[in-house]
Amino acid sequence: MTVALSNSQIEARYRAMTTRSATLHTEAKKALPSGVVHDSRHVDPHPLYCELALGPRKWDVDGNGYVDYYGGHGALLLGHSHPEVMAKAAAQLQRGTHFAACSELEIRWSRLIQEMVPSAERVRFTASGTEASHMAMRLARAATGRSKIVRFTGHFHGWQDHVAFGVRTHLDGTPTPGVVKGVADSVVLIPANDLKRLEAVLSTDRDIAAVMVEGIGSFTGSIPTSGPTLKAIRALTQAHNVLMIWDEVVTGFRVSPGGAQAHYGIKPDLTLLAKVLAGGLPGGAVVGRRDILEWLDFEASEKAGREKIAHQGTFNANPVSAAAGIAALEIIKNTDACARANAAAARLRAALNAVLEEEKVPWAVFGEFSIFHIFTNPDGRSLTPTRFDASALDTADFKSDPRKSLLSKLYLAMVTNGVDLMQWRGGFVSATHGPAEEQETIAAWRKALRLLKDEGEL
Ligand SMILES: Cc1ncc(COP(=O)(O)O)c(C=O)c1O
Repeated sequence: MTVALSNSQIEARYRAMTTRSATLHTEAKKALPSGVVHDSRHVDPHPLYCELALGPRKWDVDGNGYVDYYGGHGALLLGHSHPEVMAKAAAQLQRGTHFAACSELEIRWSRLIQEMVPSAERVRFTASGTEASHMAMRLARAATGRSKIVRFTGHFHGWQDHVAFGVRTHLDGTPTPGVVKGVADSVVLIPANDLKRLEAVLSTDRDIAAVMVEGIGSFTGSIPTSGPTLKAIRALTQAHNVLMIWDEVVTGFRVSPGGAQAHYGIKPDLTLLAKVLAGGLPGGAVVGRRDILEWLDFEASEKAGREKIAHQGTFNANPVSAAAGIAALEIIKNTDACARANAAAARLRAALNAVLEEEKVPWAVFGEFSIFHIFTNPDGRSLTPTRFDASALDTADFKSDPRKSLLSKLYLAMVTNGVDLMQWRGGFVSATHGPAEEQETIAAWRKALRLLKDEGEL
């Protein structure tokens, strides 16, 4: 978001309370493009620089505290710096960070995944969700002998070449800068949730290896994909003998201990995992059918008389991530952490919608499980926030809000009232968000809406 917010009191307040962040950002720009390391941290006039995070809260370098809904980009279902997770990671740090050898940790980690995720017959660790999405496509192509992957527009699967278009831009499937046309041509993009189109493609194109779908819909469910639609995708892929790759990078270990697939009772062929998987440290995995993962297996490939898929990765299942991941997954498996986060998010969504109604703002806060999204109603449709039906949203509704200054100010207004959202879009709720955070968020939301009204944005 880059937009001049001249004369904005909201921006002036943000600047005044984050002077050290501003100084650091000026310094950062001397080395880092736009001064950031992840596109979503690009904030106008400058992003927050943080130095401490505990449970549901974090603190910036100017000493301001925030209720945090960015939640480590969704990695922190258990909140920041969970004591048991930190203790296990810290203990491992004392014992070595990289053995360049196998460790018992990777066995325990993978066995836990198998116990929790219904489709995980075999596990291959990667260093990130993006790497898992890359490997899943390669596995699908090798296992089927076909070359194309069907994706849904708006669904995000990381930043590797095959998924670097058709998300927010290039919805026509043309490649973004640096992606070759041949790669883009090997992806068939269809509108999110369009089962008719999916059936038509699967019936006519014999070169489809797999259909890839994001957890509970585009961008963590901002354009939701319902349980019945997910079931229909599974049924269609099975009927046409095409693989289903389910991207559970966000939903895995969050929606339920076994992810969205355990919640809905659907078994994909391959699943992508990351984020919560590694307890707040870097890590990912592609998991799924044994016969497909065996394309990575030396003996199985030799026995089958085929060339195996090569796979390296210096930091795959590194011991510190593995130790943190085991600790996090054990807590998630043995406690009601997912259910608590889900319940806290449901309460928050309802409370924020009640404020919208009281303040007569025709927006809606929606979402499922421990995630919430903010619909800012760019076309000014008539709606009742507490009865908003998100199932009718499509990519255009959610991505095309032209009111950049409103959205930018919404984020800044929440920050200046002590709440850090995923920019203006919503957030992740953790198992540590409780009534105090809820009350502070409701108060910040009301104040932010009033500030936006004062500045003529609403
Ligand atoms: C649904 C989904 N898939 C894949 C990824 C990529 O994961 P990573 O950032 O670990 O590469 C993300 C990251 O936000 C994601 O949300």
